[in-house]
Amino acid sequence: MSSVFVPGKIIISGEHSVVYGEMAIAASISIGVSAEVVKSGGSKKTEIVRKAIEIAGGNSGLHVWIQSNLPIGSGLGSSAATATAVVKTIREYLGKPIDNDELFKLVMECEKIAHGNPSGIDPATVISGGLISFVKGKPIQKMIFKSPIRLLLVNSGRPKETTREMVEFVAQSKNKEEIITKIGELTERVATMLVNGEEVRGLLNDNGLFLEELGVVGKTARSLSQKLRELGASVKITGAGGVVAGSGMLMAMSPNLAKIKRFLDNGNISYIETQIGDR
Ligand code: PMV
Repeated sequence: MSSVFVPGKIIISGEHSVVYGEMAIAASISIGVSAEVVKSGGSKKTEIVRKAIEIAGGNSGLHVWIQSNLPIGSGLGSSAATATAVVKTIREYLGKPIDNDELFKLVMECEKIAHGNPSGIDPATVISGGLISFVKGKPIQKMIFKSPIRLLLVNSGRPKETTREMVEFVAQSKNKEEIITKIGELTERVATMLVNGEEVRGLLNDNGLFLEELGVVGKTARSLSQKLRELGASVKITGAGGVVAGSGMLMAMSPNLAKIKRFLDNGNISYIETQIGDR
């Protein structure tokens, strides 16, 4: 029995607006979820894991071991990566390997539990791996960035709300149309600039501010973002965000990451350093 590894993801630009048909850009990251069918024991079966086993054609007596180093509910694609890893490992175990198109359809069924009305960007990114641009209902486009982006994923705290609740929150919000159109236009510019190797930090910071205006970034994350901006960083949340408690991971980009890291280390704020866009 072999173990399957599926990466997590970050949304570089276009969360929330992607639900309304705008483009989003996303990348897989080096941390993720491993899963393996085991003879006995295995991990606790959450609703998503149970659903993933069932739709992969496995019976409820199957035991699956799952190991994840993705923080749960923090915008790094934990639910999509878990469902993908479980479906893949069950299908391999059953001797019926699955292609990416079918895998996407099955994982979308699981995502509906976590997201309600998912755009599909999370499963698309973790299944394809690498860098993609994504428009709901259309085939993914693989991207190559001319220059990689170095960034910190700064933990602003686990959101109290689920992605589903945040998507519903945006659906109810009165001023969403204008902001969503602005994020959509910005994302298309970012996509072109990334392919050309141009600096996108400023635009991604604007995206972060639009998301704050949309109301999906809570007080704690807003004040942390403000401090990071004062130190010269460009900041945006990645993922659905959160209002009442934390807002998940913040992407922080700066020509002087060492200065940002010193600030985070001094404040005991956890972060992951990563680079996206490597070929
Ligand atoms: O799963 P998260 O937190 O990365 O959020 C997914 C992105 C949303 O645009 C907020 C929802 C969706 O389905 O596209």
